[in-house]
Amino acid sequence: MKKVLSLVAATVCVASAVAQPKLTADNIDEVLKAMTLQEKATLLVGGSQSIMLNGIPTGNTNLVPGAAGSTRGIERFGIPNTVLADGPAGLRISPTRQGTSDTFYCTGFPVGTLLASSWDLAVVEEATTAMGNEVLEYGVDVLLAPGMNIHRNPLCGRNFEYFSEDPVLSGNMSAAYVRGIQSNGVGTSIKHYAANNQETNRNENDAQISTRALREIYLKNFEIAVRKSDPWTVMSSYNKLNGNYTQQSYDLLTKALRDDFGFKGIVMTDWGNKAGTINAVHAGNDLMEPGNQSEIDRIIAGVQDGTLSIEDVDRNVRRMLEYIVITPRFKGYKYSNKPDLKAHAQVARKAAEESIVLLRNQNNTLPLKGTEKISLFGISSIDFVAGGTGSGDVNKAYVVNMVEGLQNAGFSVDQKLSDYYQAQATAIRSYQRLNNIGGWAVSTKMADMAIPEGAIRTQAAQNDAAVIVIGRNAGEGADRVYKDDFDLTDIERDLIKNVSFMFHQAGKKVIVVLNIGGVIETASWKNLVDAIVLPWSPGQEGANAVADIIAGKVNPSGKLPMTFPMNFMDHPSSANFSYDNAMRQGGNNGRGGQRQVKDVDYTKYEEGIWVGYRYFDTQNQEVSYPFGYGLSYTSFAYSKPTVKASKDGGFTATVTVKNTGSVAGKEVVELYVSAPAGGLEKPAKELKSFAKTDLLQPGQSQVLTFEVSAYELASFNEAANQWETAAGTYNVLFSANVSECKASATHKVSKAKTFAVSDAYVQK
Ligand code: BGC
Repeated sequence: MKKVLSLVAATVCVASAVAQPKLTADNIDEVLKAMTLQEKATLLVGGSQSIMLNGIPTGNTNLVPGAAGSTRGIERFGIPNTVLADGPAGLRISPTRQGTSDTFYCTGFPVGTLLASSWDLAVVEEATTAMGNEVLEYGVDVLLAPGMNIHRNPLCGRNFEYFSEDPVLSGNMSAAYVRGIQSNGVGTSIKHYAANNQETNRNENDAQISTRALREIYLKNFEIAVRKSDPWTVMSSYNKLNGNYTQQSYDLLTKALRDDFGFKGIVMTDWGNKAGTINAVHAGNDLMEPGNQSEIDRIIAGVQDGTLSIEDVDRNVRRMLEYIVITPRFKGYKYSNKPDLKAHAQVARKAAEESIVLLRNQNNTLPLKGTEKISLFGISSIDFVAGGTGSGDVNKAYVVNMVEGLQNAGFSVDQKLSDYYQAQATAIRSYQRLNNIGGWAVSTKMADMAIPEGAIRTQAAQNDAAVIVIGRNAGEGADRVYKDDFDLTDIERDLIKNVSFMFHQAGKKVIVVLNIGGVIETASWKNLVDAIVLPWSPGQEGANAVADIIAGKVNPSGKLPMTFPMNFMDHPSSANFSYDNAMRQGGNNGRGGQRQVKDVDYTKYEEGIWVGYRYFDTQNQEVSYPFGYGLSYTSFAYSKPTVKASKDGGFTATVTVKNTGSVAGKEVVELYVSAPAGGLEKPAKELKSFAKTDLLQPGQSQVLTFEVSAYELASFNEAANQWETAAGTYNVLFSANVSECKASATHKVSKAKTFAVSDAYVQK
């Protein structure tokens, strides 16, 4: 140790006088060797503050205005600053800049939850290929996306950014997302690793999770994404996991992520400055973002006092250099600042069309035929929610609202009614502006006001059908609440009730559009209306896509990436999730006090692996809409299920899907597997694979193929700390949703298999 210390002392601040190697892809070791400790520490800390090194600034926060962060440059080695900017529903940078009248808008794509509802990897990849082109052409090196935490509870404020309650769907969606972005030669940061499943006290909350649930649910999706897409970076989350901050956990960042999953890139912290920088470096957290002088100081002091080894520092610096040499900025890419926003708007619209879910369609209410005049209810028809708030909010040039969408699709919208909502929306907006209401993570979502029954009656007499838009918004920093958010407000309830009653009396149909970011209650009111369309928050062009579905120009083919429960408390995680603001008060918030508030300071994931449908389906608990559910304007028959064992103990399965209806459509087939009894307790069935047909004409068939490996069939045995694929007969279920199996076959595993892992999170 003594020797190391004196060496360190000699090199801490003094830049060597020898000729400096300029960084290339081939001389990383040489550059590393020439770096002083101070330079190394500087490279491990993001560039948010202007810090000088050898008399030269290392940070440059203004390379791309509005970008969330950067890495530091070190001029003497030719190491440039690289730029990191938010997503995931598109690139987030400032749309305007000082000194120029040029604008820098980005395309607002559908949120993650809607992309996942496509169940179509090609659709996601196409959307993110366009998105990644904006990242490249605006001079950004890494998009801080996708968000991929599991939907553990419907109230998590950032669920809209995330994909699913199921790790296989989430992991594969993330992989497709990453492949699309990275095909442009720019990077991604899959986030927030891991278990950042609530926003309440997200900086300090300790998620207490069994090793099995971690391996099978909360890490599984990250494992799939890493294995299938090679993301350049991973963002470690703010929260603690089983007592340690995730960003300081060697188990999480090195043993699981690198040793088990094979991750090769860099890990950066989520945006903060936690005191344990030394632990973070040791754990394998390569970059501290947004970056502060105190973190540089801690790294230097740690090496000097022996609490941090220089080997850990060098390992991380090497990874930073390996990252830097592949960035467009290092390669000197000349970005245009002029991506083709017009073309990308069409890609965003198509992604929404392929993903929107039809939840209800009594007596083929939709598509509306021969219906011209629509009464469009709900303030959200004007105040349409394209995406959520916070860092996931894209600065887009425009958002098409439902009035425009329906008109573009050829409908006429009752002018008096939409003028009424427009006037309300204008007044609320000016009130918000006058009072400075709004800002980064504040939802300015407008609430509906009551509509007199007489007005509804007149609407029913004068128009052909009613469309009611129910809107919700949420975002970073706060979870949603149960009352008036998960549940409808009294005004919304009355609106649905009265509109349904009066339109039905007049022999006319009622359609609800759910313009929401997360799951809401539907069981108590869904039977009042004829059809329900779920576009989530579908991006700047989404209202056009909704209208095309209502008009039948597009046949819906999306399916739910999570369960819609009957009640909030039915959800297996709701007993351990704060669901109103009063419950969120009084936490320590990291101040180290004695009082530990449940679901604020810590959250026990008592439901274990029984997340979402794994619980509802296994317990036969009634739901409003099951996982994987979605209707079409046509019908599909499944036939000829086959399963062929592969050498490794897994299988290749096929099924034939035929369009048996009268219009063209696409069908998602979900492949679930029921494991043999005995051994570990398992869910009744688990999603293992999925595929979507092409557009099938009436009468047309397509064979879909699914590959499942023996490893993918395994469950995690906590006691033995290994994955196990039990011997026996597995039922392979080709399903339209988790509750509707339409064809099945069996697969026999003759010999049990085990798969070893590191001892990450082994409970000692
Ligand atoms: C969010 C991240 C985001 C980062 C940078 C954090 O507060 O949790 O998702 O990428 O800020 O804006």
